[in-house]
Amino acid sequence: MKIPNRLGTPLSPSATKVMLLGSGELGKEVIIALQRLGVEVIAVDRYPGAPGHQVAHRAHVIDMTDGKALAALIAQEQPDLVVPEIEAIATQTLVDLERAGKVNVIPTARAAWLTMNREGIRRLAAEELGQPTSPYRFADTLAELKAACAEIGFPCLIKPVMSSSGKGQSKIDAADEVADAWDYAAAGGRVGAGRVIVEGFIDFDYEITQLTVRAIGADGAVETHFCEPIGHLQVKGDYVESWQPHPMPAAALAKAREISQKVTDNLGGLGIFGVELFVKGDMVWFSEVSPRPHDTGMVTMASQVQSEFELHAKAILGLPVNVALRNPAASAVIYGQHEALGIAFEGVADALRVPGVDIRLFGKPESFARRRMGVALASADDVGTARRHAKEAAVRIRPVLPDN
Ligand SMILES: Nc1ncnc2c1ncn2[C@@H]1O[C@H](COP(=O)(O)OP(=O)(O)OP(=O)(O)O)[C@@H](O)[C@H]1O
Ligand SMILES: [Mg+2]
Repeated sequence: MKIPNRLGTPLSPSATKVMLLGSGELGKEVIIALQRLGVEVIAVDRYPGAPGHQVAHRAHVIDMTDGKALAALIAQEQPDLVVPEIEAIATQTLVDLERAGKVNVIPTARAAWLTMNREGIRRLAAEELGQPTSPYRFADTLAELKAACAEIGFPCLIKPVMSSSGKGQSKIDAADEVADAWDYAAAGGRVGAGRVIVEGFIDFDYEITQLTVRAIGADGAVETHFCEPIGHLQVKGDYVESWQPHPMPAAALAKAREISQKVTDNLGGLGIFGVELFVKGDMVWFSEVSPRPHDTGMVTMASQVQSEFELHAKAILGLPVNVALRNPAASAVIYGQHEALGIAFEGVADALRVPGVDIRLFGKPESFARRRMGVALASADDVGTARRHAKEAAVRIRPVLPDN
């Protein structure tokens, strides 16, 4: 863990340089927060014109799962910090470079490596740290999967070990659905069609994201800060709505934070983590963790004094953070609805007439029907009103095909 003891001037020899690996909507906001501190930002993604590319000092397009290409770019740019913003990265290369003292990865290369694979983080949380999780098994073949499902019981969830945003994931209710789920997982996994996790279905009352920040305190030691819990709604494993704060009984909140503390203590380093937890009454289960800002945390742009992006930017630079809530707020996702390049958005003014509303349009060059293209944010005196207003604003925005 290396902390810059001063901030330089971008594009000069004193520059503090940060490289973002992944420059989507979350990376874009981290970059904007870094830009405000005069940090020189290098944005990397797999396609040109990614949201973060548009607001960085320099942009690169590489296949970030290609370890050689990644190492070459890091050698060329010599960043002070490398900040993974997505999971699909050659994390083993980061581990090797960090071990050789050639790079500082946020929060740590090990954290990026463990969390890109469901098996790594699950075994750490459940087996090493003894935290409550859904029951689980791993399988590499259809036959193994059938046996694993029989052991876990139904309903259960089947997920590729390497995938995100619900890709390749299915919930099944009976043994005769296993084969289809296996095929679906093979198609949706990121690399190496094959290994899957089977998880017992947790019949939770609600799920939350516990944003947890590791930052340097006044005495120079790392302190852990907890944001107010974020409630969210997932459809097919992809987030559609989130709100903060989510009301929780004191005992459940204390457990959520205890789990978050144990997991983030182990992952180490500096920065924000999105700890995903399932809650039923006073019972809390760990699901997974992002060692970076979380998509459901976009609500913090409206709810907190410092958004999750600003918290991340400050924490990784060794600066103090403030996790205070300013007011209840909600976010609602705006989907592309079209498969097209260069779409446009109508109804933006109408959306902004909803009380307490603000929006973000990510500027993604290509739209897909279910691609997240923007988000509506709403602040209000209570979460219920904020949710209604965010949803109302999101539906007022109409993605349309370009004129030509
Ligand atoms: N064992 C489970 N029991 C009940 N619901 C589950 C379970 N696992 C996942 N889910 C539901 O599916 C959602 C997505 O699961 P998970 O977070 O594992 O997938 P993901 O692809 O990593 O999604 P993302 O990248 O968007 O976080 C969860 O937020 C939850 O709503
Ligand atoms: Mg998740």
